[in-house]
Amino acid sequence: MGSSLLLFLVLLFPVLLSLFWRSRKQTNLPPGPRPWPAIGNIPHLMLRQAVTGQRLHASLAAIAEDYGPLIYLRLGARELVVASSPSAAAQVLKTNDRVLCARYVPAAYRVPIYADHSLIWHARCDDNWRSLRTIFRADLLSSPSLARHAPARERKAGEMARFLLSRAGKEVKIGKVIFITFFNMVGNIIFSRDVLSLEEGKGWFPELKSHMARMLELAVVPCIEDFFPGMTGGFDLDGLKHQVQTYLEKLYGIWDEIMMQRSEETQDKDFTKMLLDHGIRDNQLKALILDIFTAGSDTSAALAEWIMSELVRSPDVMKRVREELIQVMGPPPTGDHTHLARLTYLHACIKEALRLHPPAPLLLPRCAIDTCEIMSYTIPKNCTIMVNAWAIGRNPEIWKDPLSFSPERFLNCSVDYKGIDFEFVPFGGGMRACPGISMGVRVYQLVVATMVHNFDWLLPGGKQRSELNMDEKLGLVLERKQPLVLIPKPLVG
Ligand code: HEM
Repeated sequence: MGSSLLLFLVLLFPVLLSLFWRSRKQTNLPPGPRPWPAIGNIPHLMLRQAVTGQRLHASLAAIAEDYGPLIYLRLGARELVVASSPSAAAQVLKTNDRVLCARYVPAAYRVPIYADHSLIWHARCDDNWRSLRTIFRADLLSSPSLARHAPARERKAGEMARFLLSRAGKEVKIGKVIFITFFNMVGNIIFSRDVLSLEEGKGWFPELKSHMARMLELAVVPCIEDFFPGMTGGFDLDGLKHQVQTYLEKLYGIWDEIMMQRSEETQDKDFTKMLLDHGIRDNQLKALILDIFTAGSDTSAALAEWIMSELVRSPDVMKRVREELIQVMGPPPTGDHTHLARLTYLHACIKEALRLHPPAPLLLPRCAIDTCEIMSYTIPKNCTIMVNAWAIGRNPEIWKDPLSFSPERFLNCSVDYKGIDFEFVPFGGGMRACPGISMGVRVYQLVVATMVHNFDWLLPGGKQRSELNMDEKLGLVLERKQPLVLIPKPLVG
């Protein structure tokens, strides 16, 4: 928040003061720190953010510890309610799903060429949203589609293994390798071709990753309109919308180029062809493609990097994963990936990493279409709603020894991530739940299985496993603060 926000506050102070007095009269709101006139709880949040190192999920969890599982904050003129217990999450994602299914779109993203067409940022669950979600489910994420795309996924995992073999004994940035592998898996499903290269300085669109990263960062940069909705007169005072528009135009330009270059033999089967067959064109097509890359790649890469970090820190767990892989898939380097579903211990590791390190720790923000009631408190219309999946996953009243990485807790346990067990909601729940769960889980299984089956992993500089820094950083996804650097040691050859 810079000088433009200060000037804006001075000019609007009388209006904000009257809003403050009016809102104070509203009773029965969930508990929370007493808001200041005009700026509300911004100072409380800034203080917590300074303590938690700008980790919003941890700041909100700390406030919930003081005020309870459902908290109310006013950030400027914007109202925010955060659910931080399984029963509060159930009230948001199930009981009141119809009223709370609208998406809160960050002001910087309210750029028509994206916001009007995206599935993720579709503001309302209207007929258009329903038909886009049906296309996603049927043509991209259904079991037959996932089976059809399995060869592309396996090819990319094989390329990753060969790349790692070529780097044997050298330092490798694991997150980068995983990100590019995911990106190319998605690229082959959408465009029938690779988009990035594992080899430094090679590849087709080297600027693609940085444009997308910058665009994602802009979703979480504090924006005046987010704090003072409707009071900026539609002006882009901090210039964030303009920046988002610029990156979107660059990304859409890259999609145009790739679409022109699609090979004639393979394009018949790819997802772009299916979208075109549904009559989806122009910005609608480009926004959906961007949705898949952004929703699928960053979250998945962040999670797989966390899984590898936890395995490296826990040699016994790594050993058990490898034993299971050898038992189910045979000794390396073979990789009969048709048996991935039988890797129950690896699956338990994925669940455990999702519990401790959910890539979307606050899910994606929802918005109340109407006033409703949660735990006997009033939730005002237009209020932003978040669910703190990170806090729920680390609650000692729900999870024994919550900070330890113990995949065993998910063996012989029916708790799953499908949005029904509210003590474990990394993919959200209800109407807006993540539709990409099955695709994501298949991809993490494949990538982690390939890494652990074929290589042992060492930390650089003879560092001890216990010394691995596990600090987190929150942008649009929760990732490692320091990139994970490991040295692959091939297990055969
Ligand atoms: C670790 C991986 C992933 C995580 C943690 C994750 C998490 C989430 C979460 C928390 C939401 C919002 C749920 C809610 O509002 O209740 C979401 C929405 C969404 N996810 Fe995922 N996701 C992942 C992977 C994927 C993949 C692989 C795809 C598809 C290729 C995908 C596509 C989407 C889409 C399209 C939405 C928006 C749905 C809507 O608003 O109707 N996600 N995801």
